[in-house]
Amino acid sequence: MSKVTVVGAGNVGATAANVMAIREVADEVVMIDIKEGVSEGKAMDMMQTANLLDMNTRICGVTNNYEATANSDVVVITSGIPRKPGMTREELIGVNAGIVKQVTESVLKYSPNAVIVCVSNPMDTMTYLIHKVSGLPKNRIIGMGGALDSSRFKYYLSKALGANPNEVEGFVIGGHGDTTMIPMRRFATLRGIPCETLLDKETMDKVVADTMVGGATLTKLLGTSAWYAPGAATAEVVEAVIHDQDAIIPCSALLEGEYGEKDLCIGVPCVLGKGGIKKICEIELNEEEKELFAKSAAAVHKTNEALPC
Ligand code: LAC
Repeated sequence: MSKVTVVGAGNVGATAANVMAIREVADEVVMIDIKEGVSEGKAMDMMQTANLLDMNTRICGVTNNYEATANSDVVVITSGIPRKPGMTREELIGVNAGIVKQVTESVLKYSPNAVIVCVSNPMDTMTYLIHKVSGLPKNRIIGMGGALDSSRFKYYLSKALGANPNEVEGFVIGGHGDTTMIPMRRFATLRGIPCETLLDKETMDKVVADTMVGGATLTKLLGTSAWYAPGAATAEVVEAVIHDQDAIIPCSALLEGEYGEKDLCIGVPCVLGKGGIKKICEIELNEEEKELFAKSAAAVHKTNEALPC
C-alpha cells in the first residue's frame, strides 16, 4: 500500500492529486486543506471519475485532520498563497514561511518517515525552511521547481523547433525565480541533436527568456499562479520516488559543496527514487554557466535571509 498526502487542495494541490490518481502513482491519495469542505468536495469529484477513467487510486479529502494523513510515503506541501500578477515569488515569503513551518510539523507528527516534496513559493527558500524546521536527512526533502521549469523549457523549445514536445530534452537548474532560473541551452536536444545547431542564437535567447518568466506569463494571463504544469510536475517527482524510478529530475536540493555552494536549496539535477534524492548529479559547468549559477545561488541566499528562523 502506498500513500501520498497533498497538503493544500488549491489549484496546484488538487491538480497534483488528480494527475497522481489518474496515473495511479499511489494506492491512496489524501488531500488536506484548512478550508472546510474543499478537499472533501474535490476528492469526491475526482472519485466520480474513477469509473470513467478506469482509475484504481483511492482519493479522500479532509479538513485540518492530520490523523488521516498518517503513514504517508510522500507528503506534498503546496500550502500558502499564490502570487498575483506583477508579484514575484519572493514576495510571498512573509505569509508562506509561517504556514509551511506549521504544516511541516503537523505532517511529520503522523508521517515521520515520509519524503517531503515542497511546492510552496518561494520554493527554494521554503524547501530550505523545511530542512531547518524538520531536521530530516537531506535526501528526504525535495523542492519541485526544476521539474516544472524544465517542462516549460521543453515546451518553448518545441514551439521554436516546430517539434513534438516529447521529442525534446532539456533541463533547468538554479533558483525557481524569474531571474534566477538557468535553462541549460548547451544540453538541450531534439532526439540527441543539439538545439543550438537547429536554432539561431536570437531564437535560443528568446526560448531561454520565455522559460524564465514562464510562470509570470501565466500569472498575468490567469490572474493567479498556474496549476496544470505545476501539478503534473509535482506528480512526476512523486512518481519517481514512489516507483523508485531512479529518474534524473532537476529539483531543489540541499547543497553541501556541490556546484561550489552550501547551506541552501537550489535546483540541480537529482536522481530520484526510493527515499527521495539518491544522488545529486554534478555536471561540469562552463565559465558562463558557473557565473550564472553563483549569481542564482547568491539571490536564493538573500531570500533565505528573510526567513524568520
Ligand atoms: C509557477 C509557480 C507555481 O512557476 O511557481 O507557475
